[in-house]
Parts: sequence; C-alpha cells; structure tokens
Amino acid sequence: MTEDNIRNDIREKLIAREELNSKVKELAESINRDYRGKNPVLISILKGSIVFLSKLMKYINIESSIDFIAVSSYRGREQSTGIVKMIMDLRESIEGRNVLLVEDIVDTGLTVAYLRDNLETRRPASLKLCTLLNKPENMEIDIKMDYLGFKIPDKFVVGYGLDYKEKYRNLPFIATLKPEIYRNK
Ligand code: IMP
Ligand code: MG
Repeated sequence: MTEDNIRNDIREKLIAREELNSKVKELAESINRDYRGKNPVLISILKGSIVFLSKLMKYINIESSIDFIAVSSYRGREQSTGIVKMIMDLRESIEGRNVLLVEDIVDTGLTVAYLRDNLETRRPASLKLCTLLNKPENMEIDIKMDYLGFKIPDKFVVGYGLDYKEKYRNLPFIATLKPEIYRNK
C-alpha cells in the first residue's frame, strides 16, 4: 500500500494551528469594533481564503453577510505576468455597501489590486482588505492591508486554505513543502 499522508510532504511548519486561530480571533475582534452598525459584506476570494473566512466568521458577532468572487492570475514559472481574469463574479450588488475583501495571501499584490479597481467601479460605501498572510519582499504594487494576520518570508507556503496544485488546503497550519514535491509532481 502506498502511504497517503499529506503531512509526509511537509518540510517546515511556519505558523501553528493555535497561532492562526488566535490571530484570526484578534482580527475578528477589530472587525467587530470597526464595523458595528455598518452591516459589512465579507467577500471571500476563492478558493484560497475559504478556510480563513470560515474561521473569521465564527468570531464576527455583528450584522454582516458574505459573498464570493473567483479570479485567476496567470503566472510564468517564476514571475507573475500581471494578467488577472475574473472567473466567477459576486452574487449580490455592492453599491452602497461596506465591503471587506478577505484574501489568503498578498504576494505581488496584483490580484488584490485588480479586484480593488474592479470593485471600486461598483461604488461601494467603503472597500477594505483583510488578508491572513503577506510576503512583503515580493510586493510589486502598493497595497493597503487594513487587517493583516502575519508577514512571512518569500517562501511558497500551503495549508489553511492555500494550495500547491490544489492539494494541502486542508492542513490546519501553514507550512512549506519538501523541495522534491515541486520537482516530482
Ligand atoms: P498575488 O497576485 O501575487 O498577490 O498573488 C496572490 C495569489 O497567489 C494568492 O491569492 C494565492 O492564490 C497565490 N499565492 C501566492 N503566494 C502563494 C503561496 O505561497 N502559496 C499558495 N498560494 C500562493
Ligand atoms: Mg488565492
């Protein structure tokens, strides 16, 4: 029988489950304070941010709603081409709404910059960004991260919603993978 345990592919755990959960709770408490009476709509950028969103929601105790949007960013081997395409749009109008974009990671910033510009044209009352992770070394565009969980070094990470070739999203922590994983599959 072949071993089918995704944990065997992990090189290094960067952020533990407990650390993630307490940070998410802290972020939700700030959101509760800042958005009281403002009925925000939390927009989850699929697919990477669903774990983050679902943890965050459980600690949000003010009137709010959720919606989803999906984009794909075309990447070269090393560098992003900067081309972002909408794959799935929001269900509801955001005109006049207080919008909080929920993202898993801001890397170059291109994805969030595209979405920010796109959503601004729909005249929301406000538009802010909540991201779990950021790689400051890689930023190509100036992005204001109104709520930020963790800054991480410029390493490819998986877990807590983040994938490598659609795998590892279900890991409850953030980790890097063994180099042979990138070579073999
Ligand atoms: P950006 O447009 O360069 O900021 O990239 C953002 C998107 O790239 C994120 O929404 C992720 O889907 C993906 N991404 C960037 N870095 C990582 C990583 O380390 N692991 C998994 N996905 C990543
Ligand atoms: Mg993503």
